[in-house]
Amino acid sequence: MSFLRHHAKFETNVLLLMVGILVTVIIGGIVEVLPLFTIQETIENVQGIRPYSPLEQAGRDIYIREGCYVCHSQMIRPFRDEVERYGHYSLAAESMYDHPFQWGSKRSGPDLARVGGKYTNDWHVRHLTNPRDVVPESIMPGYKFMHRPLAYDDIVPRMKVLRIVGVPYTEDDIANAKADLEAQASSDANTEALLQRYPKASLGKKDRTSEKVTEMDALVAYLQVLGTMVDFTTLKSDAIR
Ligand code: HEC
Repeated sequence: MSFLRHHAKFETNVLLLMVGILVTVIIGGIVEVLPLFTIQETIENVQGIRPYSPLEQAGRDIYIREGCYVCHSQMIRPFRDEVERYGHYSLAAESMYDHPFQWGSKRSGPDLARVGGKYTNDWHVRHLTNPRDVVPESIMPGYKFMHRPLAYDDIVPRMKVLRIVGVPYTEDDIANAKADLEAQASSDANTEALLQRYPKASLGKKDRTSEKVTEMDALVAYLQVLGTMVDFTTLKSDAIR
C-alpha cells in the first residue's frame, strides 16, 4: 500500500520522524486548547447561582482538607438511574465558582451534589460526629474533632484569592466577610444583609456543643447549600431538557 510506503520514510529518517511528531502534537494541542477560549460562552448563565458565603466557603475548605471527595462525588450525571436517585443532573454553572471543582468519580458514599436540604442540621451534626449513630451500617469515618472552633482569621485573603481566579466577590462582600460568617453561624443575628448577598444561605447555629463558630457549623452550612441554588421548577434554558 502506498500509505505504508510513505510511512517507511518517516521510520527510517529520524529528523523527518521528529518533525512529524511535532506537527501531530501541535495539532492535538490546538484541538485541546482552543475550546477553552470560548469557556465564557460554554457555561450558560443560570439564575440563582452565586458565590459561596464566607461560612460556606470555610466549610468547603474543610471538605477539601478532610478529603471528603475521596469517597463522595459532586456531579449527578444525566442518566436515568442517577437523576431518579439524586435529582436533576448537575449543570456546569452549578460548579462555576468551585475552585477546585469537586466532581470526582469515586463513590464509596452517595453523590452529594444535591444533598442540601435533604436532612436537618441536627442529622448532619450527628452523622458527622459518628455516622453509625444515624446509619448503623455506615463505613464513613467520624469527625467529632470538628466540634473545635473554626479558624477564620484568613477568610478575607481566601476570598480575595478566589476573586483573582474569577469568583465575583464584591468589595462589599469582602468588607463584610467576617460579620457575615459570624451572622450565618448564629441563631439570633440580623441576617437581612447576609441573605441579600447570599440568598438561600442556611442560617442558624448548627453545632450545639459550643458557643463558638465551629468547623462543624461551617461544613454543615456548606452541605446544606449544595444543589439548592437553582430553582428547577422555574428554570427555562436550552441546557435543561
Ligand atoms: C471512607 C469513605 C468516606 C469518607 C472519607 C466520607 N464519607 Fe460521607 N459517606 C460515606 C458512606 C459510605 C456514606 C453512606 C452511609 C452513611 O450515610 O453514612 C456516606 C454518607 C454521607 C452523607 C449522607 C449522604 C446522603 O445522601 O445520604 C453525607 C452528607 C456525607 N457522607 C458527608 C461527608 C463529608 C462532609 C465527609 C468529609 C468530612 C465525608 N462524608 C467523608 C463514605 C465516606
